Amino acid sequence: MKKLILMISFCIAVAHLYAQNIVSEPEIGDAESTVSQMPVVIIPEPVSLMKKTGTFTLPENVIIQALKSAELKQSITFLSDRIGTSTGKFVSVVNNATHPTIKLILNSQADPQLGNEGYKLNVNPTQIVITANKPAGIFWGAQSLIQLFPAEMESKELIDNRKWRLPCVDVVDYPKLGWRGLMFDVARHFFTKDEVKRFIDDMVRYKFNLLHLHLADDEGWRIEIKGLPKLTEVGAWSVKKVGTFGDFVPPTADEPRTYGGFYTQDDIKELVQYAQERFVNILPEIDVPGHSLAIIASYPELSCTPDAVNYKVRSGEKIMDWSRGAPPIALVDNTLCPANEKVYSFLDTVITQIAQLFPFDYIHMGGDEASHNFWEKNDQVKALMQRENLKTIPQVQAYFEKRVEQIVMAKGKKFMGWDEILDGGVSPTAAVMSWRGMKYGIQAANDKHNVVMSPTEFAYLDYMQADVVTEPRVYASLRLNKAYQFNPVPASVNAQYVIGGQANLWTEQIFNFRQVQYMLWPRAFAISESVWSPIEKKNWTNFVQRTEEHFKRLDLAETKYSPAIYDPMISVKRSPDKQLMIELTPEIDGLDIYYSFDNSTPDRFYPKYTAAIVPPKDASILRIITYKGKQPIGRLISIPVTDLQKRSR
Ligand code: ACM
Repeated sequence: MKKLILMISFCIAVAHLYAQNIVSEPEIGDAESTVSQMPVVIIPEPVSLMKKTGTFTLPENVIIQALKSAELKQSITFLSDRIGTSTGKFVSVVNNATHPTIKLILNSQADPQLGNEGYKLNVNPTQIVITANKPAGIFWGAQSLIQLFPAEMESKELIDNRKWRLPCVDVVDYPKLGWRGLMFDVARHFFTKDEVKRFIDDMVRYKFNLLHLHLADDEGWRIEIKGLPKLTEVGAWSVKKVGTFGDFVPPTADEPRTYGGFYTQDDIKELVQYAQERFVNILPEIDVPGHSLAIIASYPELSCTPDAVNYKVRSGEKIMDWSRGAPPIALVDNTLCPANEKVYSFLDTVITQIAQLFPFDYIHMGGDEASHNFWEKNDQVKALMQRENLKTIPQVQAYFEKRVEQIVMAKGKKFMGWDEILDGGVSPTAAVMSWRGMKYGIQAANDKHNVVMSPTEFAYLDYMQADVVTEPRVYASLRLNKAYQFNPVPASVNAQYVIGGQANLWTEQIFNFRQVQYMLWPRAFAISESVWSPIEKKNWTNFVQRTEEHFKRLDLAETKYSPAIYDPMISVKRSPDKQLMIELTPEIDGLDIYYSFDNSTPDRFYPKYTAAIVPPKDASILRIITYKGKQPIGRLISIPVTDLQKRSR
């Protein structure tokens, strides 16, 4: 901050001297053809965007004018950093300049259309103006402005000899939903404070304003709680393994438990502040009563199961049997004991500190996938059922949830849980995050619960986005076109109770931050458009074009993304005479697919896919490559024919 004030004061002094002659001559009257070639590629698509004639060219000295500069310091810093880094232009903040390059204006009288996060962005040949009711609106307008510049604006290095020109436009924009979330699971694999900051940097480009941190699960407890030291001494650490998570051999007693980590309370304060400076709220989640093995490994007395004294934080070995569907059969008891008063005092300690650390209104207390098989046999639970007149095990969980909600509310916060909290009867004040499809969210909103929609079929970014040959194996798939169909406010819902929509990034199969990015982008583009843009503005073909332009931006920003849209969807079927037939379906238009069965690498001079193919009798490998015109664009995909045979069974 001090640095910023110094920089601003210095710049005011210097720039003042030059204020009269630093604005380069605008390029008025650019040939219309040049203008129309300049792509306008804002994601998420604004409510209204009018392209006008003419272009704006960034002058050598960029002057930002922000009359309420203290309130707008985040947007000023963001624009100064971004423009200064890639263009090398001299960026200054001068509030009395006669002709500022970029004017940031907070309305003195609120424009009702814009609400708290909307903005107007006007680019004309001589000036850029962003207007909003609130600083958040200016910040989102600044994100749109950066997206109007050439892709090189995203570069982390100076780009020489570039004309920084952008099309003249009038944008009026505001979000569809006030809660536009991404969930980041830092429990299955731990991600550092700096990686979480990078996650925030990436999400705000696309106007997400809520980071849901999944802070506790079977594989790790990730936040320091004073008075409960074992949570971070024991609960934060597992045995490092790589491969296919879930199938690891159980670790032996002598393997070091050094894999993991946690955030200290100072780290959390730093993250909360970092997020706030970018208009992002952090929703903390402590997932109970299921998914609680890290807690139980730390404090076994919180389990109903005596054998819990031998439990360890999970290192990716199998602990659940999903063969009969949900809820799973637990092989170890990873639930907190609902009949043990110590559990509620433990949660009181945790929730008290969480409530102090996170300013956001809500605390998410999980509630998903709690297996009940240990509870069913447990005498303490049976006694609780008798005492509280609970007839079923889901009612036991509902009893637990209501007690936890009381604790959350006693700390001045609102309680939220995954949609399983509806199962045994839910308190009227609980908010619901709908993940097992939209139906629980629709039901809950119609029953007047606040709801955030994050259904698996559209918004689970841990699912595979391409064929399993190119992806870490996960049990389900979600391609970009499906994510783009996410409509968090369907016609059948009581819309006033849908407070948000979000996508969830579980990290069982995500071992590093590059893979976090790969899984987020471009599907999070689709989610951002689903939670920000009016539904009538969504258009798949146009979205794909913008996505491709944004790939260039992500390349320049050195952010990894998945190129899965260029790889065909691969499916198999059997012909009437039982022959294997392979179908290759491009996800987007304009691609040609070439293939080989002779083990060599295909290019565009190989057979072109036109209809389902039957592998030659002795073929052992199908290789596929996708082209756009003469350019290879997809990944080289190789699949043993025996694998394809297995898929058809
Ligand atoms: C969940 O995906 N178990 C909320």
